[in-house]
Amino acid sequence: MKHDAIEKNIGVMIILIIVALSFGTLVELVPLLFAKETNEPIAGLKPLPALELEGRDIYIREGCNTCHSQMIRPLRAETERYGHYSVAGEFVYNHPFLWGSKRTGPDLARVGKRYSDDWHRAHLYNPRDVVPESNMPAFPWLFEDEIDADLTGAKMAALRKVGVPYTDDDISGAAEAVAGRKEIDALVAYLQQLGTLLQSRR
Ligand code: HEC
Repeated sequence: MKHDAIEKNIGVMIILIIVALSFGTLVELVPLLFAKETNEPIAGLKPLPALELEGRDIYIREGCNTCHSQMIRPLRAETERYGHYSVAGEFVYNHPFLWGSKRTGPDLARVGKRYSDDWHRAHLYNPRDVVPESNMPAFPWLFEDEIDADLTGAKMAALRKVGVPYTDDDISGAAEAVAGRKEIDALVAYLQQLGTLLQSRR
């Protein structure tokens, strides 16, 4: 009888459904918020140095993340191709995350050190020069434009506010570290460190 009354009263039903869903959500979420392995940086993880940090911003500006994911799933097919699957502790200093799921090109989570700097430069200047069948766009302007060194320190200070452990020295030395460098230098430096802390490929 009581059940009947509840099922026929849409207001009560809505409230009870919300309570049930919230409970389910909390059960899933709360343990993750406190689990060490999802919050703690993996051994050796450091905030990106100035040049790499600028490289990451260029990666975002050029939309590299719209064609490339940075997230290797724990499946045989993925780990055979890309290396160790991605773990949460690798990303604790990432704001925003660049995991993605769209793979027009290969995953780049562990691309660091897979190719030489020269390969990356040639590839980014014109992908067809090194991978003839490639449909990746060319990014020749990165070879001309210099990094805006005035902003690097401020970016680090902003990241520090959300928990990335940059030191005062990192911030005060940031402008000098990137001054006069081309955007391509920053992007390649960023690519070359991706995933290198947990690399067990091939
Ligand atoms: C329109 C989609 C698209 C965009 C945007 C794009 N790529 Fe690619 N990328 C590809 C495709 C497809 C390949 C595979 C063919 C090749 O190697 O060129 C690739 C390959 C790569 C590789 C080689 C990966 C490997 O494991 O062999 C790297 C590194 C790379 N891209 C970096 C970048 C960077 C950095 C940017 C942004 C500046 C970018 N890509 C933007 C589609 C894209």
